[in-house]
Amino acid sequence: MSIHVPVMVREVMEFLRPESGKNYLDGTVGGGGHAAEILARSRPDGRLLGLDWDLQAIETARVRLKDFGDRFVGRQANFTQARQILSEIDWEKVHGIVLDLGLSSYHLESSERGFSFQADARLDMRMDRRQSFDAYRLVNTAPVSELEKLIREYGEEPRARRVAAAIGSRRKRKAIETTKELADLVEGVVGRTRTSHHPATRTFQALRIAVNRELENLRTFLADAYDLLHHEGRMVILSFHSLEDRLVKTAFRTWNRNCLCPPKAPYCQCGWSQKARILTARPLSPSQEEIQLNPRARSAKLRAVERV
Ligand SMILES: C[S@@+](CC[C@H](N)C(=O)[O-])C[C@H]1O[C@@H](n2cnc3c(N)ncnc32)[C@H](O)[C@@H]1O
Repeated sequence: MSIHVPVMVREVMEFLRPESGKNYLDGTVGGGGHAAEILARSRPDGRLLGLDWDLQAIETARVRLKDFGDRFVGRQANFTQARQILSEIDWEKVHGIVLDLGLSSYHLESSERGFSFQADARLDMRMDRRQSFDAYRLVNTAPVSELEKLIREYGEEPRARRVAAAIGSRRKRKAIETTKELADLVEGVVGRTRTSHHPATRTFQALRIAVNRELENLRTFLADAYDLLHHEGRMVILSFHSLEDRLVKTAFRTWNRNCLCPPKAPYCQCGWSQKARILTARPLSPSQEEIQLNPRARSAKLRAVERV
């Protein structure tokens, strides 16, 4: 299996500025690429808590980061549980947070995980295999109207209605069990596109986002994640989907404001004060050079804030 190549490492480090003696949180530690860089740059005694809800990812990160000894703490957990885990290990707050959202190479390449239409497997797509809800259940039991909505919104698939209708009529005869069955069904409806993408790419993306509740998790995290940072601590988020980027942008703009009262309010009643300062007026994208070397970086958007 090829190693996951971390995205925009130089830019992430420029914003995070890891230093010795400080604590960091990587909420999506994955294969440990960003984590390794943070730990290397915060020698001799910077520490990092790495979370991932995928046990395989945590195990991979532990092996990769073993030379950093107890400076690396890994936990299998959703990043929405970051506050609780930071409190369990007595850190409470950190000097920097990184989230690198989206899919890693090992998910796509582990054929049995059912993320990819390149290999035939049971429809699964769960990143956290402790969860019971999977793509098989979604595809075979969700109302067709719900499937249409999520394929349109999360997959940005213009033929969402036809794809959902085809799923609805096929599953009346027989449950759709494998990635190949679904990919062939979608290809039959969407047809070959002129782009290099497989016609089922958008539908698969939509199902993955829905199965893992990716947007809900990000929304929950962003509700108060500024509070996990020390004064002048920084948060860097890499997103790969316009809906994710919109959530990050909206949260960062809210944190950046001094008051949340309606503009016409005669005086401030909201009790809000600025939580963080935006460091990226516009999101940063990877360089052409990086995209050439790592096409998975193509849709990355980086945003960063600093706690005030
Ligand atoms: C793109 S990979 C991260 C790669 C990592 N930055 C590296 O350099 O190797 C994203 C990882 O985030 C994990 N992930 C996604 N959503 C998560 C969540 N809500 N909580 C915890 N882990 C999550 C996935 O399991 C995956 O391993």
